[in-house]
This record gives sequence, C-alpha cells and structure tokens, in this order.
Amino acid sequence: MAATQSPSSKTWAQTRGAKWRDQLDPMEAMLAPIDAPLIAALNLSERVRIAEIGAGGGATTRAIAAAAPPGSTIEGFDISPELVEAAKARVGNAARFTLADAAHFRPTEQFDRLASRFGVMFFEAPETAFANLLQWLRPEGTLAFAVWGPAKEVAFMASVREAVAAVIELPQPEPDTPGPCRYGDPSGLLALLEAAGFRNCDARPWRGDLQVGGGMPPEAAAEFLLASSSAAAPLAEAGAGEQIRASERLAAICAENVLDGTVWMPARVEIITAVA
Ligand SMILES: C[S@@+](CC[C@H](N)C(=O)[O-])C[C@H]1O[C@@H](n2cnc3c(N)ncnc32)[C@H](O)[C@@H]1O
Repeated sequence: MAATQSPSSKTWAQTRGAKWRDQLDPMEAMLAPIDAPLIAALNLSERVRIAEIGAGGGATTRAIAAAAPPGSTIEGFDISPELVEAAKARVGNAARFTLADAAHFRPTEQFDRLASRFGVMFFEAPETAFANLLQWLRPEGTLAFAVWGPAKEVAFMASVREAVAAVIELPQPEPDTPGPCRYGDPSGLLALLEAAGFRNCDARPWRGDLQVGGGMPPEAAAEFLLASSSAAAPLAEAGAGEQIRASERLAAICAENVLDGTVWMPARVEIITAVA
C-alpha cells in the first residue's frame, strides 16, 4: 500500500511549496471564489493591520489589500521560501511578505486581524501553533480562516481519490494529522481555538462551485488535479501504466462535470471566526 502523503508544514517548507508555486495561476484562479466570504468575515470596516497565515503566492493577500480601508497594512507569512519569493514578485508594494513558521514565529507588533485561506491545517502541533497565533492579535482582535470541509464534499479532492484508488491502493488519511481536510469537521478546530484562549469561536459553511484549474477542459483538468495532488508521488512510483489509467479515469469524472466546455466541481469550505 502507498505511504500516506498528506502534507504537513514541514513538507510545505521542503518540497510542496515549489510544487504549489509551479501551478500558482490555475490553482489561485480555482480558489478565488473563497476570497469573498473570507474577506466578509474579516469585517474590514476601519483601518487595520492584517496578518495572513500561509499566504502562498499572494492572491488572497492582494484581494484583502484591495478590500481593506485606506491606511490598512497587510503582511503575508509563509513557511515556503519559494512561495514567499513568488508572492513578493507578484504582489509588489501592496503587501509585505515574511518567511516564517507561523506555529513558532512571534511578530514584534500585534495585528488587528488574522486571515488565512487554507493555511492553518498543516501544523504538526496545532495546540502550540494556535496558542502562539493568539499572541499575534491585540486584545479584541479577530481572525477569519477558510478551511476545507469534509473530503467527500470537496468534489475535486474526492474525484482524485476515487480515480487513483481505482488503480493503486491508497490508505485513508489518519484522523487529526496535518492535511487539507483535517478540519473537515470544524468542531475539532473550534475546540483547539477555545483551548488556546480565543473567544466567540464559530464556523459557517460556504458551498459553491469551483472552476477546476481556473477553466480547463476535462483532460487538462485531470492532468492539473493529478499533478497537484499528494497522490501524484505514489502513482508515479506505481508506473506509467497506472498513471495513464488514473488520468483517464479522472478525465472521465471531469467530463461529467463540464459546463460551457470547462470543468466545475462543488466544494464545501468552513469559514472560521474567533476573537482574541
Ligand atoms: C494550501 S496552501 C494555501 C496557499 C494560499 N493561502 C492560497 O490559498 O492560495 C497552504 C499554505 O500554507 C503554508 N504553510 C503551511 N504550514 C505553515 C506554517 N507553519 N507557517 C506558515 N505557512 C505555512 C504553505 O507553505 C502554503 O503556502
């Protein structure tokens, strides 16, 4: 059976950051619909200092900077050197970017808002990480985090799994280990935030359709999804024949989800909010 491949902060810093960077444009185009509910939850009604955790290539940073009142500042933090460099090059003067492990780094000044789009599910020791992040916020400061819902309700992830598991044996992800759907049941994350000292912790589901790769026909969508999946490595190890079979199977699933020539898949996201 193939080894568990779910990424942790450590793998983002080592290899996964460069992989994400290589697919930034299609990945960020696919995830763009999440920015509106995340930014609404940040409640940017006055001038604020904002920190973004796991800022990646900076697309959400740029969206938050555009939505924030004049005089606001935003700083993106990420553990991947490749992604911090990419974000600096793409976002320019609209934001600052700092290479840091958010689980342990302590900024010199506190922030009014803490934001993250899919950047807080990878901590090796989440109790320590969220207790540290509490210290990033001034008293009464607020956070808004987007995390994926249950894997079976994130159709592009479920489809990749279905296609690959039809060809090679894939283990079920261990519960409560780093990975994209770790907080698919958000009650675990809410309990962690409360234990860390946050108040008024809340989760609200967002459901919508995501355009795979930002607008791709089925074969290209299948290639994009497989290449960005953690199942790519065990599939490559299995051999070229297995890769082709998984790719064809995924393309067939993608073909069932075409609208106007491109693949759309439904997803559930949880928007988490809390007060320091
Ligand atoms: C799924 S990507 C999301 C990137 C970006 N927020 C987006 O939505 O396009 C997760 C991001 O979290 C970052 N990350 C993971 N663990 C981290 C940590 N401990 N500290 C800072 N960044 C981390 C990764 O390097 C990566 O950029």
